[in-house]
Amino acid sequence: MTRSADFAWGVGTSAYQIEGAWNVDGKGESIWDRFLHASGHIPNGDTACDHYARLEDDLDLLAEIGVTAYRFSTAWTRVLPGGTEATNEAGLQFYDRLVDGLLARGIDPWLTLYHWDLPQALQERGGWSSRESPGWFAEYAAVMVDRFGDRVTRWITINEPWVSAFLGHLDGVFAPGTTDWQTALRAAHHQLLAHGEAVRIVHQHAARPSVGIALDCRPATPATASHQDIDATMHFDGFRNRWFFDPVFGKGYPEDVLELYDRLGRLPADMIRAGDMEAIAEPMDFCGINFYTSLTVDTETAEVDRSEGRVGAPPDPGFTEMGWKVDPDSLGAFLRRVRDDWNPKSLIITENGASYSDGVSSDGQVHDPRRIEYLAAHIQQVEQARSEGIAIDGYFVWSFLDNLEWVSGFDQRFGIVHVDHTTQRRTIKDSGRWYSARMMENRAQRS
Ligand code: FCB
Repeated sequence: MTRSADFAWGVGTSAYQIEGAWNVDGKGESIWDRFLHASGHIPNGDTACDHYARLEDDLDLLAEIGVTAYRFSTAWTRVLPGGTEATNEAGLQFYDRLVDGLLARGIDPWLTLYHWDLPQALQERGGWSSRESPGWFAEYAAVMVDRFGDRVTRWITINEPWVSAFLGHLDGVFAPGTTDWQTALRAAHHQLLAHGEAVRIVHQHAARPSVGIALDCRPATPATASHQDIDATMHFDGFRNRWFFDPVFGKGYPEDVLELYDRLGRLPADMIRAGDMEAIAEPMDFCGINFYTSLTVDTETAEVDRSEGRVGAPPDPGFTEMGWKVDPDSLGAFLRRVRDDWNPKSLIITENGASYSDGVSSDGQVHDPRRIEYLAAHIQQVEQARSEGIAIDGYFVWSFLDNLEWVSGFDQRFGIVHVDHTTQRRTIKDSGRWYSARMMENRAQRS
């Protein structure tokens, strides 16, 4: 079989965003359950997409769309309600049904161990800022690999450590909601160590192991040729991209950023211990990249450290409803950069997609031409990069279902399947039908 025939065409989700059933069948509380309850402003947030109860129907929908791969995350609190020690058999059985249901439909399971929903019990012991957290994660990873390693080949350790470390511990806009540089840097460092541990565990215990991380990226370009813009872009790239890509590929933390954080008193003196950087750089089988948008760094107008784009911006042809600029060329450019700077064995686009709120029309269909345009332009970039010889082996649309978009609640719709959040009715959007045809066409060309 050629490498092309193995290309994974998939869709992705995460546990917290779709499962609901937050306290059912022995599940423990996660930091996102706590955070959402404290904010108290998302009606039906706890139900999410009620996927826990609708598993079989959702599996049938995946088969109808015709994906060859499905990326999902497992809720740590469903499996180990208190984070460590006692496992919850009902939670493990739910994921048995999910994995077996996928395999029975000819769909390859891509299991993400951590998509931001840390057990609240562990948060109370210091969460990711605790030096013990990589050990807690290793315990959870070992439980999962023991149970599913006979059937799951593809493992993703941690999803977007930048987001969970910095939006969660520096900006405080995501769970657990703290706002402190040292805590954020520790949370990032410990997630990287946890990743390295999990890579080792999968390699040692899974039957046919293939494991990587899913890193978010924000390619940045300076608005002008001024030194200020160029320096700020370099700094932003260090903060947002290199801080994670460099260490997992064995380059250590970027010196310029380390030096700056140290000078500003952001870096805890005892954070990096002997052997840490080697442990983080445990060789992976693939690197996942989550790509949505890019950033222009303009020191005249922008806050360069944290700018996440124009959240809440009105629909605009050049922007999605998250306020994220549509910039497929930056995906192509970033894929070339990943090859040149870090050279992974294999690259997977683990997330790519767009939020547009098109609803069900009078004909009962969901017409979402902007999403089709977005996906087509990005897939085109992936195809182009592959034709240049870059080893890209999979592409996952974010997302399978319109789901609970963290603090944005149900307002942002990323799905290729529409979900009515009152009735839970699912409707495959035009983009879902388009994606089915695109995958079929690709398979036909390559067979
Ligand atoms: C990514 C997350 C995913 C979803 C998309 C829109 O940062 O991994 O859960 O929220 O953004």
